[in-house]
Amino acid sequence: MLFASALTTLALAIPALAAPKPLTKRADSDLSLNAQLKLANTADERYALLPDASDFVFDFTTGAVVATSETWPALTGVGASFSMGSLPGCGMAFLHLHPRATELFSLHSGRVQSSMTPGIVDSEGNQRIISVELTAGQVTLYPQGSFHTQFNPDCEPANFTASFTSEEFAAGIVPSQLFTFSNEVIDRSFGGSIEGEDIETIRDAIPAAQLILVEECLATCGREKR
Ligand SMILES: *[C@@H]1O[C@H](CO)[C@@H](O)[C@H](O)[C@H]1NC(C)=O
Repeated sequence: MLFASALTTLALAIPALAAPKPLTKRADSDLSLNAQLKLANTADERYALLPDASDFVFDFTTGAVVATSETWPALTGVGASFSMGSLPGCGMAFLHLHPRATELFSLHSGRVQSSMTPGIVDSEGNQRIISVELTAGQVTLYPQGSFHTQFNPDCEPANFTASFTSEEFAAGIVPSQLFTFSNEVIDRSFGGSIEGEDIETIRDAIPAAQLILVEECLATCGREKR
């Protein structure tokens, strides 16, 4: 009898202990909003974490260029992010890739020369390069992981928006990622054509900026490189 009542107590105690506690009811949660959104039990609970209509607006007029789940928590779990910006006259976006997202790049004003290698090799071993010139109202595509660059050949800025198929698209600068490898790896990868100290020189010369201004173009526009 004692044994049976102990079991009953236990049986009653277990569901109470195991009862899920919604995150929104936890006053003590020190998790970030992003973490809470990821852990939400239901869509209802997720939306309760974003109570204000303004939680669903991201404002690029403040100077922000990218809206990811980090800068705009409402994107958490959505699987998309967005960018809005301006490529200055003579500006070239450094050769880069997005490791986690395909990008749709759309031009709203100006002109942009875009080049992209999707990693497609023909029967002779040549990489396919897709180079296009975009004008306002046109969109191009950069598949996830493809190397790409954009150049604004005019003196006026080129305004764009871009959408990404990941809430954290990230950007990898191709030359600096490549030169992160050891001199030995670089040496072998380039068929032994670069001397050791030249590897160091190249590594040090790779700009940290994601954007470079093309000098020949600046000269045509009557502007100096700052
Ligand atoms: C391009 O964007 C800049 C900065 O947002 C803005 O001042 C300018 O008016 C835009 N140009 C065009 C042609 O839309």
